[in-house]
Amino acid sequence: MNLILMGLPGAGKGTQADKIVEKYEIPHISTGDMFRAAIKGGTELGLKAKSYMDAGNLVPDEVTVGIVRERLSEDDCKGGFLLDGFPRTVAQAEALEEILAELDRKLDHVVYIEVPEDDLFKRLTGRWICPTCGATYHEIFNPPNEAGKCDKDGSDLIQRDDDKPETVEKRLNVNLEQTKPLVNFYEDKGYLRRVDGKQDIQYVFEAVDTLLKGSNR
Ligand code: AP5
Repeated sequence: MNLILMGLPGAGKGTQADKIVEKYEIPHISTGDMFRAAIKGGTELGLKAKSYMDAGNLVPDEVTVGIVRERLSEDDCKGGFLLDGFPRTVAQAEALEEILAELDRKLDHVVYIEVPEDDLFKRLTGRWICPTCGATYHEIFNPPNEAGKCDKDGSDLIQRDDDKPETVEKRLNVNLEQTKPLVNFYEDKGYLRRVDGKQDIQYVFEAVDTLLKGSNR
């Protein structure tokens, strides 16, 4: 299964991706996670990405497309993949079409998780993540069993640098601008399937799963 999970920052892409990849055993390709790993590792890619991410801007298309092209060419993607947070611009979507054509692959599903803008700010500023395993929590909507500790490995939870209120506002504005034309792009092609992301996490998963089990497009 070749799948794109779309949604504004905080819509729940990462949360749902974890559940989907566990069930369908496909690799989870999150450009945001790839950039954060590069920043942590002090690589050239990390250096390039950091200033954009810290400011709440998008990393330039040529950089982002390059890392996705490389990742999709790896062997573990032959049986399918889940793209989370890519594409985010129409230029990226067009580049993805070229990459998939080169690899002789086709998209099966494009799922758009919809959440009203007003909820997204609360979700992002209340998010906590595990620096060890990447698990995501929310202080109100999805709290860990013990405050401040990861349920899976007991690590101390941290907040993402770009979840500061002032950066969140910028991220939402930047992404709102880019998302509408991207939604139109996939809607025009007849790929886009919308899911109500305001429901509880498990209900969102069930709605996504029903779409994935149904016929594509
Ligand atoms: P990225 O890491 O992709 O961030 P994002 O798109 O801003 O999305 P988030 O990870 O913030 O949110 P999410 O939708 O995964 O929500 P989550 O599941 O965590 O990108 C970071 C940066 O990298 C970008 O700003 C950009 O600079 C750069 N970048 C990445 N990709 C790029 C690209 N393609 N092009 C250019 N630049 C790129 O959930 C959020 C919170 O809500 C959590 O606390 C969670 O517990 C809670 N929650 C989830 N679901 C629910 C629910 N149903 N009800 C209540 N709470 C919920």
